[in-house]
Amino acid sequence: STIDNGSFEWSAPSNIALVKYWGKKDNQIPANPSVSFTLNNCKTITKVAFLKKENQGTFSFDLLFEGKPKEDFKPKIQKFLERVAVYLPFLKDYHFTIDTQNTFPHSSGIASSASGMAALAMNFMSLEKELNPEMTEDYFYQKASFLARLGSGSACRSVKGNVVVWGNQKNIPVSTDLFGVEFPHTIHENFKNYQDTILLVDKGEKQVSSTVGHDLMHNHPYAERRFAQAHENLDQLISIFENGNIEEFIKVVESEALTLHAMMMTSMPYYILMKPNTLQIINAIWKFRSETQIPVCFTLDAGANVHVLYPENVKEKVLQFIQTELVAFCQNSQYICDEIGNGAIAL
Ligand code: PMV
Repeated sequence: STIDNGSFEWSAPSNIALVKYWGKKDNQIPANPSVSFTLNNCKTITKVAFLKKENQGTFSFDLLFEGKPKEDFKPKIQKFLERVAVYLPFLKDYHFTIDTQNTFPHSSGIASSASGMAALAMNFMSLEKELNPEMTEDYFYQKASFLARLGSGSACRSVKGNVVVWGNQKNIPVSTDLFGVEFPHTIHENFKNYQDTILLVDKGEKQVSSTVGHDLMHNHPYAERRFAQAHENLDQLISIFENGNIEEFIKVVESEALTLHAMMMTSMPYYILMKPNTLQIINAIWKFRSETQIPVCFTLDAGANVHVLYPENVKEKVLQFIQTELVAFCQNSQYICDEIGNGAIAL
């Protein structure tokens, strides 16, 4: 089947890891399994228009960001196309116009690579489905996640909703290193509509990229123990998602966040991505939690921003705490309210 022109549009969310992916092998194969909450409000919306072309020897695309041509994003997309071309042999047959925007503020320090690569992968799968209409829905989503992984590892967890596992884990037989899968068991209602308020501590470009950070896990003195710990923590979360024990959830999640940053501090070269206000926020959360018994906790990704996680039934009290005590530590008082959400959707 062939098709000369057309367009697709997808939205894909960001995600926040609870057990962190940190360290990888060739072809974006993770050194350990990870699990994340899919977010609902922080999204990338990408429209891809395609037109059959004469010269089929090279990739050809234009890139628009928020409606304007954006040259500096092009090398990333070019690299992505090169990596996925063997799996999407039709890519060189078309000229693409990729028109993309984020729902979260530009340069907020929120990584758009996960949502961005996932949204792009969904669009290319829509074109593949147009050419091979008989593919199953499972194949469509699995391959989309597989392609997103090749763009940015954590992006493979942005295709599906709610709780997504990526990486081989003995006790989750459907899990695989190749793509993200939805957590295959029922999740306790305590985690329903779980909240994530993202405190923007530092919106600057980080000094050490994730790519460099992953690489520093090769020959890292604590790597083997860390990878084993990730398996243990994921096993614990499997029970926690079933029994709804938020106290235990908090222990695993905060330990994972601090371990991620401990890996950065103990690599060679060593580095620190947290800022003084990151620590101020962590201490304030611990104090608030011990004084009020309200089950609020934090996690971090590879940066200074803090994700504040809490159940929906304490939302009002936690937002009040954030507004009165934590906003002072945010750059320009900025924070983003998000919660667990449903994964990529066709628009
Ligand atoms: O997907 P990458 O290569 O940008 O790595 C992201 C790694 C962390 O965000 C720090 C952890 C994770 O699992 O998302």
